[in-house]
Amino acid sequence: MDADAGYGRITDGRIKRVCVVGASGKLGRYMVRHALDRGYEVVGVCREGSVPKLTEFADRITVVPGRTNDREVIRRAVEGCDGVLVVLVPWGVRQYSSGTAQAVLDHAEPGARLVFSCGWHITRDGKDKYSRTFTTLLRIATWAGKLVRAVEIDDQVEACRRVFASDTRWTVVRGSDLEEGESQGLPVWRRHVGDPVLAGNLTRRVDFALFMVEALTDDTLVQEAPAIVGRLSSGALAASG
Ligand SMILES: NC(=O)c1ccc[n+]([C@@H]2O[C@H](COP(=O)([O-])OP(=O)(O)OC[C@H]3O[C@@H](n4cnc5c(N)ncnc54)[C@H](OP(=O)(O)O)[C@@H]3O)[C@@H](O)[C@H]2O)c1
Repeated sequence: MDADAGYGRITDGRIKRVCVVGASGKLGRYMVRHALDRGYEVVGVCREGSVPKLTEFADRITVVPGRTNDREVIRRAVEGCDGVLVVLVPWGVRQYSSGTAQAVLDHAEPGARLVFSCGWHITRDGKDKYSRTFTTLLRIATWAGKLVRAVEIDDQVEACRRVFASDTRWTVVRGSDLEEGESQGLPVWRRHVGDPVLAGNLTRRVDFALFMVEALTDDTLVQEAPAIVGRLSSGALAASG
């Protein structure tokens, strides 16, 4: 992969500068840490009031304050970035997720690796198999979120639909239930929810972030929507014998 192939700043597959959109949240801060550990330059985007949450990285990253669905904020933040890591959250009722995804799709450098986070409830091809409990809980969360006008899960679905339809070098990482704790290593993934390997339905958040950052340099994940699970979760352990 080189500039002659039309991939802009990306040369021999190496990443130098990365933007973390939604850097102040729990997942975002883990991703900032992993990216810095790899020696990447990091630009973080977060809401103005959340900038203090990034104090621990103050002199090591560039912060662009603003809402992540603000197109001008995203345009400035992703300029010159070889990779963009996006925390897609369904907060509010003003198309926050789809606005964020669209801004990234429109303004990222041509050929940049774009890695988006979401949950198992997102399906790319409709072939995921969900338990009845999962489907019921999702329906309740979607309905209740709308009712109190706090969460718009349908809009996260729309955000991912737009990503899936784009011809960019995207990966949509679909997280299982999450927990805090020390890293267990890189999560395992399968193309579809329902695969026995994913049965444990639990991933450490630090490892979700690790998978997102690793995806930047893993071309086998381009235009894939991996459903991930912790490598020490029950189904993953059973599969590895
Ligand atoms: N939580 C789970 O169990 C779970 C399971 C599977 C997948 N996921 C996926 O993992 C990713 C991270 O989720 P998380 O739950 O772990 O959260 P998180 O990392 O703590 O991130 C929450 C993000 O939402 C932003 N946010 C909070 N309230 C907001 C509001 N009212 N308007 C706009 N932005 C707001 C936060 O920004 P501020 O710092 O500015 O508040 C932060 O960037 C998401 O893509 C989610 O779909 C989560």
